[in-house]
Amino acid sequence: MPKHDDLTKQSRTGRRQLYCSFQPPESVRQLLEQRCEVRFASGKGPIAHQIGDAEAAMVVVTDDLSAPVIIDLPASLRAIATYSVGYEHIDVAAATARGIAVLTTPDVLSPAVAENALFLLLGVARRATESIELVRSGRWSGWTPTQLIGFELRGKTLGILGMGRIGGEVARRASALGMTVCYHNRHPATAPNARAYRFEPDLYEFLGSLDVLLLAAPSTDETRGIINSDTLAQLKPGASLINIGRGDLVVDDAVISALQSRHLRGAGLDVFNNEPALDPRYLELPNVFALPHIGSSTIEARTSMAEILLDGLDAIDRGERPANQIG
Ligand code: DGY
Repeated sequence: MPKHDDLTKQSRTGRRQLYCSFQPPESVRQLLEQRCEVRFASGKGPIAHQIGDAEAAMVVVTDDLSAPVIIDLPASLRAIATYSVGYEHIDVAAATARGIAVLTTPDVLSPAVAENALFLLLGVARRATESIELVRSGRWSGWTPTQLIGFELRGKTLGILGMGRIGGEVARRASALGMTVCYHNRHPATAPNARAYRFEPDLYEFLGSLDVLLLAAPSTDETRGIINSDTLAQLKPGASLINIGRGDLVVDDAVISALQSRHLRGAGLDVFNNEPALDPRYLELPNVFALPHIGSSTIEARTSMAEILLDGLDAIDRGERPANQIG
């Protein structure tokens, strides 16, 4: 915690006092400092103590803002701005009950996440893990017509489970590569960029029609574990799985066993259960293309994510409700 004198000096500036729980890219740090008096995490003590008398806290998905933590937050705090589109780490009802607004970063990271989904799709189709390993190992003995034969995305059916704005961006790019896109949600998609694609209301029929299943759903009570041995069995043998949503949408044992038996041809995974300590069996499988949760990790997205949160905090200061406020 800063000393009392420091806080007094900060509040004299008349600018918003922002606590930031993470180290942002340098250009984003400058942006935050242009628009706020920022105090970055010292790495010591519970978040409630670190926030001190800040009016707003910028946090990330690895911060715990469950109800017991929110109860302890200081009275000065008016907003929690999460540097993510997902907000399963925040008990929004508890925050709302305390009059604390919760802001997220919708839309601005969708292109980055969708491009990463394409990276995963292409990585699975063209056997990226095995190709990279072969070249780097020095064991590559030269071109042959049979080495590392993959498949083309053109003409294949991509099914998006959890079609929203990110799914819509993925669908547009996959269509440009010649894929047919359909999706499964509880209800037909409402996002304008998602409505054009075929809605499949029956989960089992949806799964049975796919060459590639892409998970883009948030982690909720309904979606946790939705990809398990029962749902995987509905996929055609040789289908592939991509996960850009959250690790806990899948049951690891079931996915790993389907990959081992080649019922799943391959998996492209950007998110995992228990990150960063993912199940090590994934890393033994050559048909797994694994990335370390880098979906939104572009400088464009990181900059826009800070801007949308700062704009939202400005709106709250003006007494307005920003479009990226939830709860
Ligand atoms: C998000 O924005 O939710 C990303 O997954 C980063 O946490």
